[in-house]
Amino acid sequence: MIDLRSDTVTRPTPAMRRAMAEAEVGDDVYDEDPTVQQLQERVADLFGFEAALFTPTGSMANVLAVAALVGPGEEVLCESRSHILRAELGAHGALLGITSRTWVEERGQLDLPTVRSMYAPDMGPFFVRTTAIAVENTHNFAGGTVLPLADLQALRAWADEVGVGVHVDGARIWNAHVATGTPLREYGAVADAMAVCLSKGLGAPIGSLVLGTAEAIEVARVRRKRMGGGMRQVGVLAAAGLHALVHHLDRLAEDHEHARLLAEACGQDPALIETNIVVVETPDAPAVVAAAREEGVLIGAVGPTRVRLLTHLDVTRADVDQAAKVLSRLVG
Ligand SMILES: Cc1ncc(COP(=O)(O)O)c(C=O)c1O
Repeated sequence: MIDLRSDTVTRPTPAMRRAMAEAEVGDDVYDEDPTVQQLQERVADLFGFEAALFTPTGSMANVLAVAALVGPGEEVLCESRSHILRAELGAHGALLGITSRTWVEERGQLDLPTVRSMYAPDMGPFFVRTTAIAVENTHNFAGGTVLPLADLQALRAWADEVGVGVHVDGARIWNAHVATGTPLREYGAVADAMAVCLSKGLGAPIGSLVLGTAEAIEVARVRRKRMGGGMRQVGVLAAAGLHALVHHLDRLAEDHEHARLLAEACGQDPALIETNIVVVETPDAPAVVAAAREEGVLIGAVGPTRVRLLTHLDVTRADVDQAAKVLSRLVG
């Protein structure tokens, strides 16, 4: 089977497994796991943040990041298909007691004029107050689209003016970085809080980080424990992330090239594919998913008329050529 359902399906390479087996460990709830500490310091430094905290999932990292900016009864504004709203099962409302409003942008982009018009300042007992804007880079359900740095910088400048926080869901910020050459620190500089994942394109079996000020991360450490995310000798998992940062970052360019080839096979303009995700409109998405499976290609339906494919570490050029043949027949 050629598995294009997600970039989360990768299995650790033999070299990654060796790094995991050899990791030095300690009890991370006591903050005594040297490998976790090394990962947290490394990632905080990559993005220019004071501190970082290792979490089992990107969803938990997002909840902790949003919790640092938005209090109960306050609101976050985000694009309508943001992962934090569509795919985290209501966690932000259910666990944090926050509300949200959305803007709609087909390519998942930031629409600053609309955001400005939606923003609600503190009006005492009359309206819900906006305390953060959340953006997703790259945007998963919009098809791996990149948010231009200039737009993010404009958001930062406005957010500073009005005193609102900026959260970046950077589950695939690595793909944005490789696709555009934008330094990770420039992406970090526009955010007050950020979540990044090691278990997507980077190919680690598990692991994400929430980034913020030292003070915010201390609070996040307590909240993580409350949510059942205090972990013990998880240096074995952090080691996979450290390995991935060294060995699997630059190769994301290959995934992007593979995604363009698949897009072309699906009858799309490959120039529109910015990273490793391809979303294809088709009249009957479940039927296409079933037919592709019959021919050895796994893809996902993300709506009744939309299928999604992702390229990743475990998809070779030969796999791409084979999948392209199948998909061109089904949707091309
Ligand atoms: C944009 C984005 N943010 C957050 C997540 C959540 O990550 P996890 O599945 O580790 O909770 C995902 C998962 O695919 C994602 O695509």
